[in-house]
Amino acid sequence: MARTDPRFVCQSCGASRARWAGKCDSCGAWNSITEEKAREAAPKGLGAGKGRKLDFVSLNGKHDEVARHASGIAELDRVVGGGLVAGSSVLLAGDPGIGKSTLLLQAVGALAANGVRCAYISGEEGVGQIRLRAARLGLAEAPVQLAAATSVRDILTGLEGGERPDIIVVDSIQTMYLDTLDSAPGTVSQVRGAAQELIRHAKRSGSVLLLVGHVTKEGQIAGPRVLEHMVDAVLYFEGERGHQFRIVRAVKNRFGPTDEIGVFEMTATGLSEVPNPSTLFLNPERGPVSGAAVFAGIEGTRPVLVEIQALVAPGPPGSPRRTVVGWDSGRLAMVLAVLEARAGLSLGTSDVFLNVAGGLRIAEPAADLAVAAAIVSSYSDRPVREGTVVFGEIGLSGEVRPVAQSAARLKEVAKLGFNHALAPQPNGRKKAADAAPDGISIQAISQVNELLDQLSPAATPSKRAT
Ligand code: TYD
Ligand code: MG
Repeated sequence: MARTDPRFVCQSCGASRARWAGKCDSCGAWNSITEEKAREAAPKGLGAGKGRKLDFVSLNGKHDEVARHASGIAELDRVVGGGLVAGSSVLLAGDPGIGKSTLLLQAVGALAANGVRCAYISGEEGVGQIRLRAARLGLAEAPVQLAAATSVRDILTGLEGGERPDIIVVDSIQTMYLDTLDSAPGTVSQVRGAAQELIRHAKRSGSVLLLVGHVTKEGQIAGPRVLEHMVDAVLYFEGERGHQFRIVRAVKNRFGPTDEIGVFEMTATGLSEVPNPSTLFLNPERGPVSGAAVFAGIEGTRPVLVEIQALVAPGPPGSPRRTVVGWDSGRLAMVLAVLEARAGLSLGTSDVFLNVAGGLRIAEPAADLAVAAAIVSSYSDRPVREGTVVFGEIGLSGEVRPVAQSAARLKEVAKLGFNHALAPQPNGRKKAADAAPDGISIQAISQVNELLDQLSPAATPSKRAT
């Protein structure tokens, strides 16, 4: 018999349950459960010739070239895969005050100056406030269509009435509401409903939709995670409050690569591009100190050199502190355990602090060896040799494994004036030294305990080997 019992469905994660509850068991969201009538079970005979017949085609055939709008802001264009794709929807998520509105206003300003029709709709700021910001950014003359609105019905009516814009910015999705829903703006159902209508409009009209979304303290896009599934691309705009750098990172992109980053600096006149980010994350003036190692990393397609700092200090008895900024704490625990077990360090009673300089977040396992080098250096109070970079992935037995794109890393290293690398032995018979560009000497490391031999001798200058 067909089931038509009511079901209670979490509007945030989609989990269904038999009873209403204030909090969803599976995703922890509050007030997200609403009653939905379950659909009747599929009628008999579905698939017995009543539907429209599908025509299957081959993968190899004619396809439309996607039209892209490049903003001319290279750091942004690269992250979205070469430009914004017509008809697509993009979510730009980040903490309040990080610079989302500034970035998008600069992007539409640049696009509009190139003849792309742009509309900027703000539910957060009044027209006057946005004009003030535009004047500060030097964009007051850009032909951007500006409006302050929060009703999706008004927005869609406005968009369908006039000339179709190529780019529509909606800042932010949490302020938008549909008058067909009872709940307040910013609630799960409003965010989802409003986004759905706006995305449908973008698909139908061929405009690009740029949605701004705020992020909660836990780092999730406020409201439903489903927003991430609904859009074609999700960009995170991140950065540390106290730092000037801002990083746009693609975490999902149906029209381009992910893991690509764009680096900006927040200045008095808006965001300026940082084409060579390595210069931001390094500190060239300071001489060698213990507890620092330069990691040759890859962010997306671009090599980035960044300093990793560690401090190993005696802690109070009891459970030692492990504090990490910019890296994964689970990964740090693993590196510490491997150093204890395979390199004979005794860290059990020490506090360990790890920091990635400049507010960058690193996700690559290739940073393991640089983290280990910084820790060993702080532990033994011996600096890493000047002009040295470090990269490699560490396994549980203490072995150092090769990582992807060694050649690209070493090229960047050479460009920035480094002359030595501590790196794993590449796969196959090729010697590490053979892969090095001119001017770089490579010391192959195959076990973590070999790191100890590679540090400068202890501080007293008279004992220096070189
Ligand atoms: P904003 O774009 O309003 O952040 P969001 O939309 O993500 O909430 O950026 C706000 C911050 O940026 C604010 O603290 C001031 C700073 N800012 C500058 O430093 N320079 C500028 O030219 C602008 C426009 C903003
Ligand atoms: Mg804003």
